[in-house]
Amino acid sequence: MLYQRLARPLFFHLDPEQAHYAAMDLLARAWALPGGRAAMRSLFEPKTSPSLERNLLGLPFKHPIGLAAGFDKDARWLGPLSALGFSFIEIGTVTPRPQSGNAKPRLFRLPKDKALINRMGFNNQGAQAAATRLEQYRKGLRGSIGPVIGGNIGKNKDTPNEQATEDYRIAFRALYPWVDYFVVNVSSPNTPGLRELQEREPLTRLLQQLHKDNISLCQELSLPSPRPVLLKIAPDLSEHQLSDIAGLIRETHLKGLVCTNTTISREGLQSSEKLLQSYGSGGLSGDPLRERATEIIALMRQLCGPDFPIIGVGGIRTAGHALEKLQAGANLLQLYTGFVYEGPGIVRAILDGMEDLKKHLPNFNSNNN
Ligand code: FNR
Repeated sequence: MLYQRLARPLFFHLDPEQAHYAAMDLLARAWALPGGRAAMRSLFEPKTSPSLERNLLGLPFKHPIGLAAGFDKDARWLGPLSALGFSFIEIGTVTPRPQSGNAKPRLFRLPKDKALINRMGFNNQGAQAAATRLEQYRKGLRGSIGPVIGGNIGKNKDTPNEQATEDYRIAFRALYPWVDYFVVNVSSPNTPGLRELQEREPLTRLLQQLHKDNISLCQELSLPSPRPVLLKIAPDLSEHQLSDIAGLIRETHLKGLVCTNTTISREGLQSSEKLLQSYGSGGLSGDPLRERATEIIALMRQLCGPDFPIIGVGGIRTAGHALEKLQAGANLLQLYTGFVYEGPGIVRAILDGMEDLKKHLPNFNSNNN
């Protein structure tokens, strides 16, 4: 409430990208103060219960709510973000070489729709910088158990699609010792041509190569098992493309899907045409994406069978939205835009709300596997 009444209006006066850094800077400073971690935990960390726990991809999740990729691209804020209660955090998208992304402004708010449009273009400091931060973070944990960490990887803008596999391999290798699972991002609308890698042939080649690397890196590091590799898909794929993807799971050793990335659609928005025109191209996230993302989850659940891991993402802001996606077949959930609109208490609010709602939904099936 305090966030919506006080902090959000202040942050919403700033340019959205500046607000992102200002808000995270504030949280990071609070976290670094003496007693700051405990204070943040008591304010924001959700009450967990065994019924919320999930075991998926061979990893333990305290509850189903994680932070989606793009929020902490460079693994800068893992400490403060874990104090907000996320059970898993996906860093990235990380590319092999640092890149500055598209020209600013490149992030826009649509308050009437509780949505964002972004064309960031994978601005990030590169795989080595992310790996160094992850190593520091892991060492700083000193035996305590933090959230599960995912590594979302992509290609540099100036790498042609024919050489994309090499880019993914470099990022994969750099992050390999430090992340618990990987997400191959071929679905961002903001890197020209990237989505073409979702087609059957290039995708099969890319994923098969990463599987080979996975086996050899696992041996090199003497890990008990290879890292689970998931694929993040766009909500704008046709049924034909979606069934192609379901069809290549076995031959590529894919361990799960993240459904979905942002959409290029502008259907059903409350915001004025003029505002949309002034913002221009980019991926739309938040409330207007919710239904489509849920449809994709339901479809992929049908196509991939009851046991295939699916992380549902797109427009989750309330407990009801979270339950909708779990009921459509998601095993775990992620959010980004909901955090911007609802603030740092969102994980606790959703989990408390889910417990209440579940009492009224006797047939609720949580897909807890
Ligand atoms: C994103 N998203 C994203 N996804 C990804 O795989 N790699 C990335 O680098 C980014 N970057 C990014 C930046 C910004 C500003 C936004 C808003 C989103 C997509 C994100 O992870 C998620 O899939 C969508 O935003 C849908 O979820 P929400 O935001 O509706 O909860």
